[in-house]
Amino acid sequence: MRVLLAASEAYPLIKTGGLGDVVGALPAALRAVGVDARLVLPAYPAALAALPTARAIARSALYGAPLTLLQGELPADGSRPLPVYLIRATAFERSGNPYQDVNGLDWPDNPARFALFCRAASALALGHLAPDWRADVVHAHDWQAGLLPALLSLETKPPMSIFTIHNLAYQGLVAGADADALGLPPEWWSPQALEFYGQLALIKGGLAFADRITTVSPRYAQEIQTAEFGCGLDGLLRYRADCLSGILNGIDTQLWNPADDPALVAPYNAGNLAPKAQNKAALQAELGLSVTADVLLLGLVGRLVTQKGIDLLIEALPQLPTDVQLVVLGSGEAGYVAALRSAAAAAPRRIAFRPGYDEALAHRIQAGADAFLVPSRFEPCGLTQLYALRYGTVPIVRAVGGLADTVVDASPTTLAAGRATGIVFEQSSAAALAAAIRRALGLYRAGTPWRQMQLAGMAQDHSWTTAAQAYHALYQELVRPSSEPASYSGSAE
Ligand code: ADP
Ligand code: GLC
Repeated sequence: MRVLLAASEAYPLIKTGGLGDVVGALPAALRAVGVDARLVLPAYPAALAALPTARAIARSALYGAPLTLLQGELPADGSRPLPVYLIRATAFERSGNPYQDVNGLDWPDNPARFALFCRAASALALGHLAPDWRADVVHAHDWQAGLLPALLSLETKPPMSIFTIHNLAYQGLVAGADADALGLPPEWWSPQALEFYGQLALIKGGLAFADRITTVSPRYAQEIQTAEFGCGLDGLLRYRADCLSGILNGIDTQLWNPADDPALVAPYNAGNLAPKAQNKAALQAELGLSVTADVLLLGLVGRLVTQKGIDLLIEALPQLPTDVQLVVLGSGEAGYVAALRSAAAAAPRRIAFRPGYDEALAHRIQAGADAFLVPSRFEPCGLTQLYALRYGTVPIVRAVGGLADTVVDASPTTLAAGRATGIVFEQSSAAALAAAIRRALGLYRAGTPWRQMQLAGMAQDHSWTTAAQAYHALYQELVRPSSEPASYSGSAE
């Protein structure tokens, strides 16, 4: 079973958020269950630097754009290394973020850049670029790879296609002359295809044309079929409900392992939680907070955007009890950055804000904080609450999407049954968030229930194996003639 995964980011080559984590880990997990999974990405400078052994294996030109196909490999634990293809073209030769310039503004030609990527990935999947390999299944992720299922549908014997929605709010909208310049078939200007209120939505290439659609949690798969969470695409998703399912993301349990994390001052595990306190003290000292064991230290790591409910946190700050400290690490909208900066400047011993992107600090926050905030308006899956569970850091989350699917609220019943793993609140409001934090503080002060929640969270298994098996089953359903029984080969290739 040959599967080509196509996406705009994959850790450790390039990452801006959870998409990078997922596309970085899933192919290796698929190889471990016997799939010949391969990855294709644009050859951004950062990706080339992270894969210095990649070699040019083909040259071509698509719609006048010269491109080079490079092949390298990433180590994949317990399995043969993961083959990685990089599409090199001038459109990707820009420094910084894959999507934005240094000022945080989207590159205006993003639709054209990722259309080129999809054309190249389609040629690769069909065996036209690297003639010794052809995909049985193409697995495209998010709008940047959305055109891929649509382009494949134009072929006579295309590979089957799966489109995974990591975030429906990003749709790859393009209008007017820019849309015309993409050179797509004119019949795609229809609501049944790519048209979306007078523009093209490149995400619809996946939603309308893929053989299967998945999203990253069962709850989000339901939510996106409603007007509240459907971003205008709920009608199409209801129409395709038979082909739509939710497969919960896993996490890389080696990279995120408090017992063996090089970023931490003191490793710990469920059998020996005491060193977590050293990580808390070290984090407080690093951030200039009061180094006090007896406060509830809250952490938040994430993109500072409306989705993440950052404004609710900013509004809730004055309501927080004095024995609560907060650290926020993130980059994003200028208004949130300014508000967090001034909150931290006004109370530097209680509130710390670190603007920017810092992978090692993200690990230290997961280890050093007592509780982890994810007050999102919507959350397709969310990974930081899963890291928090693994690090014995109690998540405080809103009851949406993957957050609702992965955190069990501390009620008298769940606490008594030893099932509680965090604090879950319903309303998207500063008052509800502040009440959830006060509830967390009460449990933290009580001691025993807090410890129980930490241990219940740490006992959960969020490794990629379960998700990889679910994707493998889906691939098999797609490529197997209906009369042929399912089989499990157990090794890649
Ligand atoms: P999303 O994909 O919506 O941004 P997720 O929770 O799925 O949210 O994944 C976010 C990932 O990005 C996590 O690995 C998180 O630790 C990481 N991350 C987000 N912001 C930062 C930052 N400023 N510094 C380091 N890591 C970050
Ligand atoms: C998106 C979502 C996030 C999810 C991630 C990986 O960026 O916002 O909830 O965890 O993709 O699937």
